[in-house]
Amino acid sequence: MRLFDQPTLRADFPILNQKHNGKPLVYLDNGATSQKPQVVLDRLAKFYAAENSNIHRGVHRLSQEATDAYERGREVIKEELGFESGAESSHELIFVRGATEGINLVTHGLREQLAEDDEIILTVMEHHANFVPWQVLAQETGATINYIAPLDDGALDLDAWKAAFTTKTKVAAFTHVSNVLGTVNPVAEMVRFARERDVTTLVDGAQALPHGPIDINALDPDFYVFSGHKVYGPDGTGVLLGRRDLLNSFPPYQTGGDMIDIVAVEGSTFRDAPSRFEAGTPNISGGIALAEAFRYMRDIDWEAAHKHENSLLTHATEELEKLEGMKIFGKTRGKAPIVSFVLDWAHAHDVGQLIDTSNVAIRVGHHCCQPLMTHLGVPATARASFAFYNNHDDVEALVAGLHKVKRFLV
Ligand SMILES: Cc1ncc(COP(=O)(O)O)c(C=O)c1O
Repeated sequence: MRLFDQPTLRADFPILNQKHNGKPLVYLDNGATSQKPQVVLDRLAKFYAAENSNIHRGVHRLSQEATDAYERGREVIKEELGFESGAESSHELIFVRGATEGINLVTHGLREQLAEDDEIILTVMEHHANFVPWQVLAQETGATINYIAPLDDGALDLDAWKAAFTTKTKVAAFTHVSNVLGTVNPVAEMVRFARERDVTTLVDGAQALPHGPIDINALDPDFYVFSGHKVYGPDGTGVLLGRRDLLNSFPPYQTGGDMIDIVAVEGSTFRDAPSRFEAGTPNISGGIALAEAFRYMRDIDWEAAHKHENSLLTHATEELEKLEGMKIFGKTRGKAPIVSFVLDWAHAHDVGQLIDTSNVAIRVGHHCCQPLMTHLGVPATARASFAFYNNHDDVEALVAGLHKVKRFLV
């Protein structure tokens, strides 16, 4: 049964009980990384206490059990992303270190498939992880990049994005949810539009999945990436879901053990995805614990969780707007629970450091989105980003903390 008993769910995250100088931790930097529920921490501990072994090559019991747990984890995550368990599917799930590595794997793979004058479409709201690898790919291949800026409210300019497609367009890469503006892009429509023009799509889902499972099978992008540490799982884990035929047309990203078919002095042959892209010993405990995070998310009533997250967003936005000199970036309807703002009486970095004395953790800086900052005309913003385990006391603490910063500075 799916539940949303907010205080009980919050209690699943032990770090949130922490106090510093007598003040409770108010963690509003979920966009950077999420906290971990006890079941994920327990799963990591259990692996090392009772199951630790290398996978895929051992014949002994421990190795076989660890292999089973790791491969079952792959299936669990795939199922939560809309793929039928055990069924032949169009996409393979590759374990990677995070969204960044997933995107680099794809741009590396496309190096031999793009040529001079081919075109790539990006948006100006991309995280550097979905920006720089494409720039390097463009430099290496001679392809050019078209960048589509957001509208004033932070929505993607969908008309301009569609108009950017030409017969030379080969790839469109875009974020599902902006980590600064909270904008939720119309991914289904964008993938469909690109597919009709035979354009490969890569969707950066790093900020989308923390707010509930997504039927990626139904969205059907060619590639979808996300980071495990933002979805209540361990650091150094992540997923690249990719179309099998495209993945198998890529050269390996790294080479070594576990990804080969035959190795001989004359040369080596490589296995198909996913093994093709998982050279060496992977993050075994991480993959298993990431699957545990997905099992945990499976038991949450996400409709209720969304309502709760939205109420936090509305509460925070209303209260922040009352502050003098406040400017919030990103005002689209249905946005993710992320509020980026500047105050005309303080630099964002000062706000971040001073509010930390109230034990309120927010993010300040360019959020790895320098092109977006340039577009918005600011060097940095402060950002409060919420998860389902936050509550209205956290919002009140944010607002009280900002008032205290103001009293200190003004
Ligand atoms: C939208 C988006 N894409 C990609 C990334 C990169 O994720 P990671 O550093 O885990 O690879 C982030 C991280 O903040 C992000 O917010």
